[in-house]
Amino acid sequence: MRLTIKPVRQLKGQITVPGDKSISHRAVMLGALARGTTVVENFLMGEDCLATVNCFKELGVHIEGPVDGRLTIQGAGLDGLREPARVLDAGNSGTTTRLMLGILAGQPFCSVITGDESLNKRPMARVTKPLSQMGAVFLGRQDNNLLPLAVRGGKLKPIDFISPVASAQIKSAVLLAGLFAHGQTSVTEPTVSRDHTERMLRYFGAEVTTSGTTVTVQGRPRLEGNRLRVPGDISSAAFFMVAAAIIPDSQITLEGVGINPTRSGIIEVLQQMGAQVRLINQRQYGQEPVADIIIAGGELRSTEIAGAMIPKLIDEIPVLAVAAACAKGTTVFRDAGELRVKESDRIAALATELAKFGTAVEELPDGLMIHGGTTLTGTTCRSYGDHRMAMAMAVAGLAAQGQTVIEDAGCMAVSYPGFVDALNKLSVE
Ligand code: S3P
Repeated sequence: MRLTIKPVRQLKGQITVPGDKSISHRAVMLGALARGTTVVENFLMGEDCLATVNCFKELGVHIEGPVDGRLTIQGAGLDGLREPARVLDAGNSGTTTRLMLGILAGQPFCSVITGDESLNKRPMARVTKPLSQMGAVFLGRQDNNLLPLAVRGGKLKPIDFISPVASAQIKSAVLLAGLFAHGQTSVTEPTVSRDHTERMLRYFGAEVTTSGTTVTVQGRPRLEGNRLRVPGDISSAAFFMVAAAIIPDSQITLEGVGINPTRSGIIEVLQQMGAQVRLINQRQYGQEPVADIIIAGGELRSTEIAGAMIPKLIDEIPVLAVAAACAKGTTVFRDAGELRVKESDRIAALATELAKFGTAVEELPDGLMIHGGTTLTGTTCRSYGDHRMAMAMAVAGLAAQGQTVIEDAGCMAVSYPGFVDALNKLSVE
């Protein structure tokens, strides 16, 4: 699908963004491993989360929906999954794969998991290594680094894992495997990554403690089915936050967005850059903090984004790079080498695509240097099959002069099937 974007005069109005992708995945996983019924509201009907639902159906879990965002899961209990007859298909989803690998590592049966072309190039040794130390057996290309991967799970022993990368997928894979081991499993990260797994484990009744950058889970917990509402995804809200920030005279409200401090770096950075961001109606959905976000544009100025801030906005860097292109001065992103192993190499993709809009960009090994402030010119962009690249380029198109075309934009459905409708609703031409 080709998406054509015309510049808009301003953005005005109010929308609710779809459910959080990370939290939706975890809700299915813990609902499946708990005893009793779990009802999830505002579940993200994106392709990634549906891949997780299908994996659990293959593992014998009874799941109804999602219908209008409601998913009902009849939990199988910690020992109730059954050997899948077919290969598990994670589609484009790194979260499905890496977290499922943690769960499959604890099962007394064989399974095979694979994904699409992009996913089958992404590194998996970062989870198969610690899971092998716990006792699982893997078979896959490049020393168990690439999908498809065969897993022979079984009796696991707890470990204290020191992760070289701040990655919630690595942390979660080991913690989920730790549920099946007797004793305490811990993960220590260089800086804190998103903590949705820890919060949801507690919500379902597991014992999880956090001390600095170390998280510890007690094995063999009694997980009880629960009801929960998934907050709006701040990573989806991010596209409209930046759009409102870069288009003069805009003001929009995004309702019910998750503002977990391990995810909300974009709020802080946009404020630093000169946007007006206000949070109202702060509340909790289960263990997760939520607010309505009001954002208005202004003259943006450049900033530097590095270190512990990076994991707090890792998925928002494509759209923050668009904000940087529109901001006066040079914005630098560093310590973001992880972007090279996302759904696409986002550093290379951003450098190439922003240059097409006329922005001067320098590619760094672990980031980008963006010389912003010149008017963007509409162009034809590639998405690289990467949902967040497609939507970030659409936002750039809103602020550009002339028309922008995004090729292969259908991938937006991975995380935000209704993106174009939401954009049309907010656009004033
Ligand atoms: C995610 C963690 C992040 C993020 C991804 C979702 C998660 O990946 O980029 O979109 O749900 O745990 P890493 O753990 O690889 O940093």
